[in-house]
Amino acid sequence: MTENVESAVRTICQAYGYDRTRMMDIVRAVQEKLGCVSGPAMEAIARATGTHRVDVESVVSFYAFFTERPKGKVVIRLCNDVIDRMQGADAVAQAFCDELGVRPGETTPDGAFTFEYTPCIGMCDQAPAALVNDVPVTSLSSDAARRIVRSLRADPDPRKLVSRLGDGNNAHPLVQSMVLNHIRKTGPVVLAEFVSGEALQKALAMTPAEVIRDMKTARLRGRGGAGFPTGIKWEFCRAAPGEKKFVICNADEGEPGTFKDRVILTERADLLFEGMTIAGYAIGAQAGILYLRGEYAYLRAYLEDVLNRRRSAGLLGRDILGKAGFHFDIRIQMGAGAYVCGEETALISSCEGLRGDPKNRPPFPAQKGYLGFPTVVNNVETFCCVSRIAEKGAGWFAQLGSKGSPGTKLLSISGDCRRPGVYEVPFGIPLKEFLEMAGAEDAAAVQVGGPSGQMIGPKDFGRTICYDDLATGGAIAVFGPGRDVLQIAQQYMEFFIEESCGYCTPCRVGNILLKERLERINCGKGLPTDLDYLQELGETVKAASRCGLGQTSPNPILTTLKNFRAAYEAKVRPDADGLMPSFDMRAAVAQAELIAGRASVHMEY
Ligand SMILES: Cc1cc2nc3c(=O)[nH]c(=O)nc-3n(C[C@H](O)[C@H](O)[C@H](O)COP(=O)(O)O)c2cc1C
Ligand code: SF4
Repeated sequence: MTENVESAVRTICQAYGYDRTRMMDIVRAVQEKLGCVSGPAMEAIARATGTHRVDVESVVSFYAFFTERPKGKVVIRLCNDVIDRMQGADAVAQAFCDELGVRPGETTPDGAFTFEYTPCIGMCDQAPAALVNDVPVTSLSSDAARRIVRSLRADPDPRKLVSRLGDGNNAHPLVQSMVLNHIRKTGPVVLAEFVSGEALQKALAMTPAEVIRDMKTARLRGRGGAGFPTGIKWEFCRAAPGEKKFVICNADEGEPGTFKDRVILTERADLLFEGMTIAGYAIGAQAGILYLRGEYAYLRAYLEDVLNRRRSAGLLGRDILGKAGFHFDIRIQMGAGAYVCGEETALISSCEGLRGDPKNRPPFPAQKGYLGFPTVVNNVETFCCVSRIAEKGAGWFAQLGSKGSPGTKLLSISGDCRRPGVYEVPFGIPLKEFLEMAGAEDAAAVQVGGPSGQMIGPKDFGRTICYDDLATGGAIAVFGPGRDVLQIAQQYMEFFIEESCGYCTPCRVGNILLKERLERINCGKGLPTDLDYLQELGETVKAASRCGLGQTSPNPILTTLKNFRAAYEAKVRPDADGLMPSFDMRAAVAQAELIAGRASVHMEY
């Protein structure tokens, strides 16, 4: 091992107190410094943090943004989400590949560039989009892709690609990004103006139990997807025994088609941090963590600055706003490209410096979470609602929205619509009305809640967006009349296969079997009996999987089978050959032919 690696790694580990639970930060910093996390670097990290190489390697190999082998100095990650592909990502990819002389996943021989695909980067409203190292480039075309490569060849600093700045804080000196907020409709809860400190002041005038009572009176439910009542979660956590407690904000936002948290982080960071601080007061925590997805690294410096300003203003730190004994601070934990880390127990594993493996439940995080201590995990938008409830009162909040779903919801809409972007709407709004608002009147299919949600057709557009009807963490993807919903379902299945952590068989294997059978139907080789197969296997994967990823991954197939059955029936034929399109008979018998020393008599050569 070279002296350089050892000393660089030691310096980095020292900065993190040689603490193995900070493995995500250590690995990220080592990669930034050395270009990759090589075997010798992993051994050096293991030595410095008192752990084993296998523990370091399990982290490096798990996350898409970490690499053991050197990549190009500039890594171009093009989003290949369904929406991006609809908007021309395939042609953009071709242009990148032609210009660089590589195929996806390859590095140029001079080590200057790597080009690869990545799942949804949270920019579906300005697709096709890519990350050039940490810098987002949006609304791409083939011409733009060629220009980007030429410009990077002249100057490899990706920040120079930003020729025009986005709106709002996207233009802040610490962001300097071309990303657009696309806020189409503001509302009274999340996107209304906010004066830092007012909500916190009011919360601190109450007892922690009263703050929790207010969250319950407001009937606030989690905005991350599952809709669990926030006050009840906090009450469990407050009551759970533990010498420390933690507050974690889930800013992983990996569900394809969701990008509303990106806008909150950019424009309402104070509202969010204030909500986390109120949560800390309510449950008795002194520390909070914002788990920020790796794709949003471009917002990190800005968010750190907001935290610093809040420290200077006495809104974080010791004896907050003069309240003796109330100490609370927040650190940012970067993710590194793993959708499953949005699942709260996987997210906790990641914060602990481990692979993003989901954990068995019970115990629930509120009882035994981060480092084994009681932990509240809430979505970005949920914490914003918390601040607003503290500021304006539980009664005010409870009268917004619909009976079972008080408040407003931030929706991110993209795809075949004229006004993609972020809308704050009252819960209970009919989907049809929302589609009209976004210029999606001729929608033929709508994916509500991302791939883990449901694909619905026009007969269901009269239904309402709320927890008791069409529930969504915020993603609405629109597909016009020319789109093939079965191809879309196949692409979503490819996403789940890629993102499964592989721990349990139903999810690891079942999703591949489901995708292959759907692929065979899409290729015109499917049999009518395939529909029952998909239904039964899909239900089995849902029932037998360990975490929410596997429990929802068959939804693209199951909900299209339910709502677009005619599309399946039009593709299957009783006389189809039923062969898998990707099955290569010749390759399959090649080894047997070699062993037998003769050509198969069953193959036509
Ligand atoms: C595969 C998977 C991905 C998830 N991704 C997110 C996410 O990106 N953001 C989020 O807030 N919740 C996500 N969740 C839900 C979280 O597990 C958890 O329910 C949520 O963070 C709780 O916050 P809330 O009660 O405020 O909604 C995900 C769940 C699963 C199963
Ligand atoms: S369901 Fe999938 S993602 Fe969840 S634990 Fe099992 S393999 Fe991992």
